[in-house]
Amino acid sequence: MHLQLRSIAKRFGAILAVDGVDLDVDGGEVLALLGENGAGKSTLMKLLYGVHRPDAGQVTIDGRATRIDSPRDAMASGIGMVFQQFSVIPALTVRENLALAHASTPWFTGRGARRATAGLAPLAAIAPDVPMDARVSSLSVGQMQLVELAKALQQDPRLLILDEPTAVLGDDEVRRLWSLIRGFATRGLAVVLITHKLADVAACADRVAVMRRGRVVASGAARDFDATRLLRTMVGERDLAAPSTAPLPADAPTRVWIRGLSARGPGSRIDGVDLRIARGEVLGIAGVSGHGQDVLADACAGVLSPDAGEVIVDGETLFAPRQRAPRAGRVAYIPEQPIRNAVAPDLPLALNLHLDRLHTLPAIPDRRRMEADARALLTRFDVRPADPTMAAGRLSGGNLQKLVAARELCGAPALVVASHPTMGLDLAASAFLYHQLFALAQAGSAVLWISEDLDDLLHHAHRIAVLHRGRIAGVVPADQRHRQTIGAWMTGHADAEAA
Ligand SMILES: Nc1ncnc2c1ncn2[C@@H]1O[C@H](COP(=O)(O)OP(=O)(O)OP(=O)(O)O)[C@@H](O)[C@H]1O
Ligand SMILES: [Mg+2]
Repeated sequence: MHLQLRSIAKRFGAILAVDGVDLDVDGGEVLALLGENGAGKSTLMKLLYGVHRPDAGQVTIDGRATRIDSPRDAMASGIGMVFQQFSVIPALTVRENLALAHASTPWFTGRGARRATAGLAPLAAIAPDVPMDARVSSLSVGQMQLVELAKALQQDPRLLILDEPTAVLGDDEVRRLWSLIRGFATRGLAVVLITHKLADVAACADRVAVMRRGRVVASGAARDFDATRLLRTMVGERDLAAPSTAPLPADAPTRVWIRGLSARGPGSRIDGVDLRIARGEVLGIAGVSGHGQDVLADACAGVLSPDAGEVIVDGETLFAPRQRAPRAGRVAYIPEQPIRNAVAPDLPLALNLHLDRLHTLPAIPDRRRMEADARALLTRFDVRPADPTMAAGRLSGGNLQKLVAARELCGAPALVVASHPTMGLDLAASAFLYHQLFALAQAGSAVLWISEDLDDLLHHAHRIAVLHRGRIAGVVPADQRHRQTIGAWMTGHADAEAA
């Protein structure tokens, strides 16, 4: 396939999201599409996939002018896309979701789904361990991502668009995805890979294109863009040095005690988790996704009621079976998948900033004041556009993540629970987020930080606890020397040896 985009433009109200883009993609190559949050990457690819229609410009496929008015048109032209926000339906099984994606399937649930998907191989090929008859809601985020990918592959695309597929994956999953992507290219497929991660570029890109404010500002062979040049092109001369956590005094008192906590979620559980977090401490939770991370986070933030145990903050039990204190102001929570779990996409940004404390608003809020406050906070956290009246669902993926961070990290919480808080953020925004998080710790908060990125945890956290099959396999200081031990705990090896 040879695809040409010429002078493509798209405006949303006052925002020129895509501003006259020329881009070429060829079969057999992987194009990495980079650029800061809100640069227009997702919009450009949604134009190509027929989710939006361009206001201007031409799309040419193999020399023929092509009109793409809907995803159905895109599929007919051999284009497949995996979106940044998941499109799988949690209440249906994996098999049903795959059958549903098959445009020609009349019966997509139950037995019909089994028949329809009988001959489909992609999921088995890319993720043999994902259970076909489990509900999608019970899968880990990484597994959901693979189902999304399988859905797109069923259509046998010649061009595959992946919008930040590595943001939620663990090390092993990322490596597997890289080799899949390289495999597609070797078989002659074209791949567009949207990413913020330089490692993705190094591992699989043939070419790169960098967007800024709706335009492609640089492009060329990946080998001509080393990390330094990429960084400079993406963020200019801004300082990206991620701040580090301050050393923790040996006598720092316990601020949060997660005491014998057991809880069940749709797909995983935690079992007798016992952790103490000191005042000012950043405790990292490492582990392969699906081992109870989401349940631990929900239970510590009081979103999920535990079966046993308690969460004690400043000596007071906040959450226990049949007991739930309001968390507003005391426990900040940045959950997985913020679009699903932490924002109301149809409400304006100003109200989204009060989502955890709507009941504290006066019956008739002073709208002008509320919007002025919101604008100040949005600006501080660099949410773009900082427009309090805009619906949250219109923000780009990274800006949505910043919105949640702004709401949750603006106060002085006793406990911060942060699941993958830099997911989808560009490099400058990640550095800023870390800065906020560690500043809270320095001011006395206890931080529980769940991440798939062991390097990040080793670099920034004070201690690391490993969650394996819902239990704490061990806790060590965040030090490179413990890397192997942590790795062994993550894969359950230490257990096997002990048994
Ligand atoms: N449906 C929409 N309605 C209004 N504005 C939109 C809509 N979709 C995107 N935008 C705006 O278009 C601009 C580009 O957004 P886009 O999602 O393409 O950015 P992105 O490069 O993918 O960023 P990120 O890295 O954060 O995902 C942003 O300012 C965004 O707010
Ligand atoms: Mg995007």
